[in-house]
Amino acid sequence: MKQFFIQTFGCQMNVYDGQRIAAMLESHGWVAAPDIESADMIILNTCAVREKATNKVYSALGRIRRAKKPGALFGIVGCVARESGADAFRRIPDLNFVLGPQSYHKLPQLLENPDAKLLNIDLGGLEKFDTLPRMVRSPAVAYIPIQEGCDHCCTYCIVPYTRGREISRPFDDIMADTRHAAETGAIEICFLGQNVNGYKYTDAAGRTMRLSDLIRETAKIDAVQRIRFTSSYPTEMTDDLIAQFKTEPKLLPFLNLPIQSGSPDVLTRMNRPYSLDLYIDIVDKLRAARPDIQISSDFIVGFPGETDADFDMTMDIARRVRYINSYSFKYSPRPHTAAALMRDQIPEQIKSVRLARLDGFLNEIQREFNESCVGKTMTCLMEGGDKTGQNLVYRTPYMQQVIVASDGDAHPLAQIKITAANKASLRGEFVRD
Ligand code: 5AD
Ligand code: SF4
Repeated sequence: MKQFFIQTFGCQMNVYDGQRIAAMLESHGWVAAPDIESADMIILNTCAVREKATNKVYSALGRIRRAKKPGALFGIVGCVARESGADAFRRIPDLNFVLGPQSYHKLPQLLENPDAKLLNIDLGGLEKFDTLPRMVRSPAVAYIPIQEGCDHCCTYCIVPYTRGREISRPFDDIMADTRHAAETGAIEICFLGQNVNGYKYTDAAGRTMRLSDLIRETAKIDAVQRIRFTSSYPTEMTDDLIAQFKTEPKLLPFLNLPIQSGSPDVLTRMNRPYSLDLYIDIVDKLRAARPDIQISSDFIVGFPGETDADFDMTMDIARRVRYINSYSFKYSPRPHTAAALMRDQIPEQIKSVRLARLDGFLNEIQREFNESCVGKTMTCLMEGGDKTGQNLVYRTPYMQQVIVASDGDAHPLAQIKITAANKASLRGEFVRD
């Protein structure tokens, strides 16, 4: 049997794409390979969001070329494929395929004609969803894309170029995928989209459906115990959605709501036109709806023109909102983006100092939050075993990792009492009644 090996970089959308590529190859009789050396096809599923991520892909390709068996096919799919296009073949001439995030469903063409060089970086919209086979069994957490692309056009972001304009999938298609996932093992549903809370679909009868409609419908499925969504845009956090944190107990009390910067000037240059007051107002409303809610954010430091005073405002907002579990990045100029052409690019060394300060502070809040969980009992979802085989790894409703000693009686959803905490994870024990 022919074997494939997929390595995925980047966001949850890429993780989903990787799962679909595996399912597609399996439907053609292929099986997953244990390593690159034994694979007949190696697929790098790539991220272009920062320059470092793109460089990682090209160095991985160099390693793969040396390690793969002669005649094995290899190539890239995803955002770097879309960013590089035909240039990828110039950089690595023996590459067999370059397929963008909306055209990887064309990969089987290579199975029929393995000598071809397959290049397709078209933005095919929703076509891939209609052609890909379903997964036979869902993992406990099912990632379900509800929209692709993004219309916000933040000036730093390559995603509108790599994944195209925003398109929402038909409501019934999403619910069919959700029900199928629940019937085949999903306990948690995570709706995905670059601008997930901007989901908007008008059906043939003229009814417009929003993310809150998807959540309401999904909460009715008995097998689904937990619902979440990522990643949200602040101004799309509408009242109907906020209210659901009060009315839908299955909606987890955790939300990633990226602010990116705490400086109004920087936000303007990022083309993120919301005021800090509006953002804080949304956070307050969320906390009023669900007092135990926790918020996380993404931050970019060293955006062109960012002054010390701008950066201090980012520290202030982090202090004010007390984000748990955030991600912060040094600004990285990307092709096809407006910010890459802005004057006043910030020296790397200043970016590093700012990142270290912000990260240090965010880590402190995260540790404090983790420590505040000690003694509490939470319903957690099993993720799998750890490397030692002695422990099980669970996720709390806040996505913290909890390590629990295995007692041979593993339940996918368990009541776990938190017994210890550090910055990165928690330890706990089963509560048996
Ligand atoms: N440089 C640094 N970080 C970026 N992000 C997106 N584009 C860039 C860039 N050019 C970050 C944002 C986004 C996350 C997925 O990646 O914070 O929310
Ligand atoms: Fe990377 Fe962004 Fe593309 Fe996801 S959408 S793969 S994070 S560039």
